[in-house]
Amino acid sequence: MVNFHLECIDCGEKYEPNQVIYTCRRCNGLLSVEYDLSDIPEDLDQSWKRRPLSVWRYKELLPIEREEMKISLEEGGTSLNKCLRLSRRIGLENLYVKNEGENPTGSFKDRGMTVGVTKALELGMMKVACASTGNTSASLAAYAARAGLECIVLIPSGKVAFGKLTQAIIHGAKVIQIRGNFDEALSIIRKICLSHPIYLLNSLNPFRLEGQKTAAFEIRDQLDGRIPDKIVVPVGNAGNISAIWKGFIELRELNLAEEAPQMIGIQAQGAAPIADSLKKGLNEVKFVENPETVATAIRIGSPVNWKKAVRAIRESNGLVEKVSDEEILEAQRLLARLEGLFVEPASAASIAGLIKLTEKGLIEKNELVVCVLTGHGLKDPNIILKQFSKPIEVESSEDAVLNVIMPKEKQTAESHFFNDKKRNRHFI
Ligand code: F0G
Repeated sequence: MVNFHLECIDCGEKYEPNQVIYTCRRCNGLLSVEYDLSDIPEDLDQSWKRRPLSVWRYKELLPIEREEMKISLEEGGTSLNKCLRLSRRIGLENLYVKNEGENPTGSFKDRGMTVGVTKALELGMMKVACASTGNTSASLAAYAARAGLECIVLIPSGKVAFGKLTQAIIHGAKVIQIRGNFDEALSIIRKICLSHPIYLLNSLNPFRLEGQKTAAFEIRDQLDGRIPDKIVVPVGNAGNISAIWKGFIELRELNLAEEAPQMIGIQAQGAAPIADSLKKGLNEVKFVENPETVATAIRIGSPVNWKKAVRAIRESNGLVEKVSDEEILEAQRLLARLEGLFVEPASAASIAGLIKLTEKGLIEKNELVVCVLTGHGLKDPNIILKQFSKPIEVESSEDAVLNVIMPKEKQTAESHFFNDKKRNRHFI
């Protein structure tokens, strides 16, 4: 740990870090954790390499003062898979995916919650809360349980995938469904947390985002120091793209990377306030009132971190794109069938966006691209069952099963072939 403080991204006002604060008291701007990088030990990279790949490998750049209070479920250390078959299909040569569904509760949120919930303990808070489209609530509920804290989650009624809701319930969170959307839920819980001793752990919380930035550190380490040309991230409340960008910037400031990647944010068509506004050349993001998409995790119309995300996209010379529900579901199927990776629809949005941008010629064939797959597919099984037909049911007999595997005539031909082979001893 090195010295750090909180700083407003708009007016630059600085704050001591050991207090409960979410936005700037002067101008209401977003806060960012800033480190005194001159304190960083010279052998930082060597120390990192001696520890297992995980969020806490990078503890020098995490805003926790009392490491012994750490609440961890061994988050991070997710695989970076090279996608040969998908690359060939899309027409790229250097495509990797960071599989964040491997985290303890099945999404990237765990990177943030290990730090956020540890911070809650450091600050002496007994209750934590969030609004969520599902994954944040699942993750917070788990980490709060491990820390022995009371957990309250607000979710939009009927719009949270089954698996995520189940997670929040089993971990003992007080789950409150509101008859409204995520944006309304966040606005309500924000007000409650400001006037009660309850610690807010949405991505408005700058400490939580510090955990999430470690995805950038891991990508660099997994690529043996190479920095991707492009990082593709699905965008909802816009915290993750901002966090990952911050990670890459810190690497550059520490001379651990020469370059920083271009950040590409992907939104769902019916919930694309950032993509729509930037494409129109607006300087502010115009919110979407009734966001709608099959990718319920990113069904967000008023992303609180839009300013950080727009900066990440602009400073990195990046891009935003939006994709339709059909494109998202097709990308989900492709990833599952070509690479053996089952992700939830919001995660597949990054692949759908990648396909679209490659077709438009905005991603070049030999560029090193990393798509962040944010959450596991098992969280939202219903979306699959709605699209695909039910498996065939037959009598419990070898004949009946064989008949489905191959029609009768083919079976006879194949058995002749099998016997010939056996006779000729070619069959192993
Ligand atoms: N992918 C998944 C699977 C998510 O759950 C989320 C956000 C995102 C992408 C977008 O990340 O908000 O940082 O831009 N889920 C939040 C939640 C909103 O409540 O679980 P973001």
